[in-house]
Amino acid sequence: MPLDSGRQEARRVQTSGGALAPDAMARAGGLAGLRWCFEARSASRWMGCRRDAFSQIHLSPLALSSTILLHSQRHYRATLCTELTKPLIIGNIPSASLQPYEVRIRVHCCGVNFADILACQGLYQEKHPLPFTPGMEFSGDVMEAGKAVTRVKKGDRVIGVANTKALAEEYIADQKVIAGAGSEKKCSLAFQKGAIQSVNYSETSLREEVKKLTDAQGVNVVIDTIGGDIFKEALHSLAWEGRIVVVGFAGGTIPSIPANLLLLKNISALGLYWGRYRDQDFPVFSSALSSALSYCQAGRIQPHIGAVFKLEEVNEAFAHVTQRKSTGKVIISIS
Ligand SMILES: NC(=O)c1ccc[n+]([C@@H]2O[C@H](COP(=O)([O-])OP(=O)(O)OC[C@H]3O[C@@H](n4cnc5c(N)ncnc54)[C@H](OP(=O)(O)O)[C@@H]3O)[C@@H](O)[C@H]2O)c1
Repeated sequence: MPLDSGRQEARRVQTSGGALAPDAMARAGGLAGLRWCFEARSASRWMGCRRDAFSQIHLSPLALSSTILLHSQRHYRATLCTELTKPLIIGNIPSASLQPYEVRIRVHCCGVNFADILACQGLYQEKHPLPFTPGMEFSGDVMEAGKAVTRVKKGDRVIGVANTKALAEEYIADQKVIAGAGSEKKCSLAFQKGAIQSVNYSETSLREEVKKLTDAQGVNVVIDTIGGDIFKEALHSLAWEGRIVVVGFAGGTIPSIPANLLLLKNISALGLYWGRYRDQDFPVFSSALSSALSYCQAGRIQPHIGAVFKLEEVNEAFAHVTQRKSTGKVIISIS
């Protein structure tokens, strides 16, 4: 039975009796010391339910009472709503392998919200295809972080807000990146480096593509180094309370921001002149560099060196960048 695109795995799904043991909030030790709070957007919104092992297999209640398929792997207990208005059951769900931008969280506690109950009755404004795991808010710790994840590491304590899926022993949160670039070659490089999607803005509308890729929700953060029309398209692609970070204007045009757009979606536009921290706030400058180095050493980021030139080739190197041929970092090797 096909599961993810490109991955034909057989999986075993069984139900187990009994209820999910209620886990005291105390086990999570309250919220003090939390490393990071995930806005754990449902993966299904972005990726067509790829993370939903049970929706991939599309269990019927009948299937739930029997072993389906075979490949032994780690499982975790999850609450399942298999039929609206009926009691929830606890199922054993196969742990999916982690993608580079994802974080596996051991859920310590999950809040029970009225909205969960409504969702399981089919009365909530958002309808979830059956079967689904309810659960909208959780605390826990990081079991495993994908290679491209930089904000948290194994052992960090986290809290998260989800649409569904948190009422389970494990939850996979994601830091998804949609890359925008001006050629197919650059798009595929971004893909290799961990972006889940890429948009070639030379060929297609960034705004329209992002709309499609996010089910019209928009993205939470844009980091823009291009300016001009790309900036405007990106501004329109932001979700409610999104942020756009102005980093540079490689395209040559400094855009203006229509203030009404900021107001309509509670958007923030911020500038980032990183190098200026050297003079304004050296500890921040220094700690940012240290963090980047330690991420490199730990293999959590792998900067891409697109081209290396000799000192005598400095003009070619400059042309390489201005002609939009560069990818990643362009370096002149001097000694
Ligand atoms: N604020 C800060 O702290 C900070 C720090 C570093 C850099 N910056 C700024 O960020 C911008 C990017 O710098 P970078 O060193 O990272 O460059 P880069 O991304 O390596 O190269 C520039 C890229 O911009 C795109 N581009 C779009 N229109 C272009 C045009 N008309 N001419 C040339 N390139 C164009 C090209 O990619 P596509 O072909 O994919 O469009 C090109 O490969 C610059 O404006 C720089 O000053 C700011």
